[in-house]
Amino acid sequence: MAKICIYGAGSIGCYVGGRLLAGGSDVTFIARERVGNLLRQHGLTLSQFGERRWSVPPERIDVSTDFSAAAAADLVLVTVKSAATPTVAAELAGVLRPGTIVVSFQNGVGNADVLRAALPIQTVLEGMVPFNVIERGPGAYHQGSRGELEIKRAPGLQPFVGDFERAGLPLQQHADMLPVQWAKLLLNLNNAINALSNRPLKEELSPRA
Ligand SMILES: NC(=O)c1ccc[n+]([C@@H]2O[C@H](COP(=O)([O-])OP(=O)(O)OC[C@H]3O[C@@H](n4cnc5c(N)ncnc54)[C@H](OP(=O)(O)O)[C@@H]3O)[C@@H](O)[C@H]2O)c1
Repeated sequence: MAKICIYGAGSIGCYVGGRLLAGGSDVTFIARERVGNLLRQHGLTLSQFGERRWSVPPERIDVSTDFSAAAAADLVLVTVKSAATPTVAAELAGVLRPGTIVVSFQNGVGNADVLRAALPIQTVLEGMVPFNVIERGPGAYHQGSRGELEIKRAPGLQPFVGDFERAGLPLQQHADMLPVQWAKLLLNLNNAINALSNRPLKEELSPRA
């Protein structure tokens, strides 16, 4: 079975990694001490709009605070915030095997390039998570909006497509991810306006004027 590593167990990492684990995949999380302790104690409880729920008990969670736990991975999903990407890239460069597939499931348009520069003998692919995830409690993560994972199409990705399908997170594959990434960034640039005006994005964009 393919080994999947979630590098940066926060909202997106715990949700996507937890769904993959619930779907039967072999998943290792690299986390900060705080999150690691919560996952070891509480496991993962994942929920989605529409009341769907998945639970993963603590004994099924493989979590480490040591980045060298990524060494055995066939697929690494990078789910840290952009500012942490250079550190993660340097850490991965020291441990990954040649040919490992690395996906940046991060917002922004430059994170995959940062990873690629540090990982010339691995394959780095752009990814995009279209839905929102929030931490609701210890080990509890909630998907609050819709959408399917989007990713750069590549031959090396194909062995892992089934893992995402079994998890109920099918991959939308694109030859060119740049328009997808820019579209997400343009929407995200409204976040501050939404927060300051207390108007959700849909409400803000609905009246064209
Ligand atoms: N949350 C969403 O709804 C959402 C939706 C779509 C896309 N995204 C994108 O997904 C990415 C992740 O967002 P997020 O909301 O999941 O962020 P997050 O909750 O902050 O999760 C990232 C986690 O990685 C940890 N981390 C950072 N560097 C690490 C390292 N070297 N080793 C181990 N752990 C490390 C962080 O710890 P520290 O905080 O202690 O550094 C944090 O716990 C971002 O690019 C974001 O824009 C988020």
